[in-house]
Amino acid sequence: MSTRPSKHDAGPLGDIKIAPSILACDFARLIDHIDEVGSEADWLHVDVMDGHFVPNISIGPPVVASLSKHTDAFLDCHLMITDPDAYLEAFAKAGASSVTVHVEIGDLHATIALARALGLRVGVAANPDSPFEMIEPYLGLVDLVLCMTVFPGFGGQSFIPDVLPKIAQVRAAIDKAGYACEVEVDGGIDLATTTQAVEAGATVLVAGSAIFGAENPKDAAAALRAKAL
Ligand code: DX5
Ligand code: ZN
Repeated sequence: MSTRPSKHDAGPLGDIKIAPSILACDFARLIDHIDEVGSEADWLHVDVMDGHFVPNISIGPPVVASLSKHTDAFLDCHLMITDPDAYLEAFAKAGASSVTVHVEIGDLHATIALARALGLRVGVAANPDSPFEMIEPYLGLVDLVLCMTVFPGFGGQSFIPDVLPKIAQVRAAIDKAGYACEVEVDGGIDLATTTQAVEAGATVLVAGSAIFGAENPKDAAAALRAKAL
């Protein structure tokens, strides 16, 4: 039995989930922006960048700890970092709900086991040019597969449709085996691209610019959900 509080409840498996990416927020007004999306955010997507795995540096456990104090949202931490093992405990202590690690950094079996031991949900992420075969060994071990639809590092890039067949492959493999695993897409998700991603099999939709760049972030999130249903 888990001792983690209910704020780490991911919601019903397979339901469409909108995960606003806080990378598109004004970090000096972070909680105000999050409150603007309110109940339309099923998860909050937290982009962690280390300046090594990706050519950008963003935020880490201290910001997750602050968020955790001020919101009950499920904190979906996307770790674009080369050495997640060194930081998983810090993320767990900070109040992360889930950590997603990249297949490009090497074998992830020990990382997944460590995340589980810390009581975290865990996902694997794949860059647009990383094939299904790099994800396959972890299916059945993770709660989430994140298919990047842009090359990670920056918000506001264009959706790469070449990833769609891989999303469908991941979805088919999960459904065939009956794994309890979500399929998440991240990068360039907006009203024009959501339908394709959902038709390919995605259930968790990360969106930064399309939500926080909109005049009314709550309406923008609701519009994305309406497109996806
Ligand atoms: C990119 C990040 C994304 C990014 C998405 O490295 O992983 O989560 O914030 O931003 P948009 O929705 O603007 O493409
Ligand atoms: Zn992300």
